[in-house]
Amino acid sequence: MIEVENLTKYYGPVPAITDITFQVEKGEILGFLGPNAAGKTTTMRILTCFMPPTRGRARVAGYDCLDQSLEVRRRIGYLPENVPLYNEMRVTDYLHFVSAIKGIPRRERSRKVAEVMGDCGLLEVAGKINGKLSKGYRQRVGLAQALLSDPEVLILDEPTVGLDPRQIIEIRNLIKSLAGRRTIILSTHILPEVSMTCQRVIIINEGRVIAVDTPENLTAQLEKSAQVLLQVEGPPEEVVTILSRVEGVLEVERRDIAADHQVHTYLVKSQPALDLRKELAAAVLRNQWGLLELRGVSLSLEDIFIRLVTEEEGSAADHPSQSTSGPEGPDEEEEL
Ligand SMILES: Nc1ncnc2c1ncn2[C@@H]1O[C@H](COP(=O)(O)OP(=O)(O)O)[C@@H](O)[C@H]1O
Ligand SMILES: [Mg+2]
Repeated sequence: MIEVENLTKYYGPVPAITDITFQVEKGEILGFLGPNAAGKTTTMRILTCFMPPTRGRARVAGYDCLDQSLEVRRRIGYLPENVPLYNEMRVTDYLHFVSAIKGIPRRERSRKVAEVMGDCGLLEVAGKINGKLSKGYRQRVGLAQALLSDPEVLILDEPTVGLDPRQIIEIRNLIKSLAGRRTIILSTHILPEVSMTCQRVIIINEGRVIAVDTPENLTAQLEKSAQVLLQVEGPPEEVVTILSRVEGVLEVERRDIAADHQVHTYLVKSQPALDLRKELAAAVLRNQWGLLELRGVSLSLEDIFIRLVTEEEGSAADHPSQSTSGPEGPDEEEEL
């Protein structure tokens, strides 16, 4: 449904994206994950025909984003990073106005507007003025306008940014409910976001693709060890010794973040996919120490980025012909 090939965009002399290549199958939800300034918005703007690439090409439903932009635009609904709403308009009037712009026949407009308002949970704010809406509702109006022409493809640029946790869950569920019939690309800089909504993830950094996989594979592949964090009240040397003896433990690291007399924090590493929480808790209790906290630690987005970028640099040094790496040169980075 979407094919992107060697997409490159320069703003002046600086490349924002370089040789971005990926495909999205019909009905798939693809997560576009990357830190700020990675090039997510730039890629999305090219896909939605807002600007041409410097090099490379993008096709949507077989149509070229540059040469057949009208056909592409007809098939795409776009939720930009900052939803541009006319603040003085009421929600319903605004959506009618957008349907007119999108060329939806007059007799169908009321039905379409009511339909997207229902889908996006906007009926209760129908008569409100856009400018008075909360960020969450503004985002829904943005999503509603993107859905008006019943597009095959939805491009959503950071749809949950700036929302509170409850609104994030609502928007996420809404996006999931839209999947299936539609092909969706969703950008985010938050890892759990993609694990919860997307079937496949592309990670970009500094304008280049550094990984493409399912969220599960990415996490599994990168998680070299399972980690459990414990806060224990007890004599630190003994605690380290006892925890290290638990079967499957590879390493125990003492972290004195909450250092207070006998209370210390420990990070216990074990083989990947090994859950030692019960055994560790039992070991602490057997020694009659106080167990103040115990939780599994999963990789953060930062960890994943650092590992991917470090691995890319390592493999680029091994195979100089592979040029999909991030920053050039063998920067010495500490193993994390
Ligand atoms: N209109 C522009 N003019 C010049 N540089 C830009 C422009 N838009 C984006 N950039 C630069 O291109 C890079 C990628 O930006 P962007 O695509 O917005 O990243 P993201 O959406 O991942 O945060 C950044 O370094 C940004 O500063
Ligand atoms: Mg952006």
